[in-house]
Amino acid sequence: MVFNDNFLKACRREKVEHIPVWYMRQAGRYQPEYKKIRESYTLMEIVHQPEICAEVTRMPVEELDVDAAILFSDIMTPIGAMGVPFEIRENIGPCIDNPIRNASDIARMKTPDFKKELSYVTETIQLLRQQLSVPLIGFCGAPYTLASYMVEGGPSKNYIHTKSMMYNNAIAWEALMNVLVDGMIEYLKLQIDAGAQALQVFDSWVGSFSREDYKAYVLPYMKRLFTSVKSYNNRIPLIHFGVNTAHLLDLIKEAGGDVIGLDWRISITDARNILGNDVAIQGNLDPTALYAPKNQLEEKASLILEQVKQSGFVFNLGHGVTPQVQVKTLKDLTHFVHDFELKN
Ligand code: CP3
Repeated sequence: MVFNDNFLKACRREKVEHIPVWYMRQAGRYQPEYKKIRESYTLMEIVHQPEICAEVTRMPVEELDVDAAILFSDIMTPIGAMGVPFEIRENIGPCIDNPIRNASDIARMKTPDFKKELSYVTETIQLLRQQLSVPLIGFCGAPYTLASYMVEGGPSKNYIHTKSMMYNNAIAWEALMNVLVDGMIEYLKLQIDAGAQALQVFDSWVGSFSREDYKAYVLPYMKRLFTSVKSYNNRIPLIHFGVNTAHLLDLIKEAGGDVIGLDWRISITDARNILGNDVAIQGNLDPTALYAPKNQLEEKASLILEQVKQSGFVFNLGHGVTPQVQVKTLKDLTHFVHDFELKN
């Protein structure tokens, strides 16, 4: 089994044989095999069973010829162990019946012994490292994105409860962000110890912030998260991803990450101009482009690839694969990117 390390090389801005590809939400409901497994188990039941979880993680790698696997899990997985029960509801997302709204709710949260509480995560990663011939990406949710689910009680449009706490109760906000940073540092370390070869931090909903508010309420916590994980292990590439973040990219880079994940609202050229040459870039095809005719989809992918002028690029979507996408569309796209002539 030859190990394909193009993804890790791209994260480190080294020369690659082909541009590496993976897709956010590459394991999911667009796959008939996944839907079949979901008839027998809930999402969290899959996550708790290492053999099945490893199988679901491997399925897209085998089916789409992508250059990396991402651990099948959810950003909420460690949150239950931190004392906040949640449920993932069909077509809605994570829901919390007793949302975190004040200092005493936060005081009840804990940084547990993750190694004990999340032993199934360790086991799944160890299994996958024996099975995979591509790198395994671990991940966590960023403190703000996690806080948004925990304070709102579920998905939200405007994050009114979360931002009310943030603006009105500085002590509670600091406490909540800090307990989440501490928890995610430990959770990422656990994934490193188990064998994860890269880590992605999903700050999916941070694009709702102005620059001023990002600096005041998010940046210091993200800096602490990235600095701490880097000092624990400086060889594991860290990917920092958010949606709708074109106006925040320099601050996101300042927060940390070897690779910055982009959505489709900014061009690779503009992002490169903001970010400079000392980070890698991951992205950024509009996930709805997967519904365009093949020639249009390939044109859109080419437009991205033609802007890649140096090493340090990972092809991905700008956000997750949606459930109605055809498996063949994604597989053909992987091959299209792999066959694209490298400019460097
Ligand atoms: O293949 C992969 O990318 C790994 C699996 C993965 C899942 N969730 C599985 C999942 C990853 C990386 C996540 C991260 C995650 N979860 C994020 C960050 C990425 C992003 O999309 O911005 C967020 C915000 C969540 C919270 C969450 N969980 C949402 C918004 C949803 C979708 C709700 C829905 O039903 O459409 C979930 C549920 C979820 N997590 C599914 C999957 C495959 C949906 C399918 C199912 O219930 O089986």
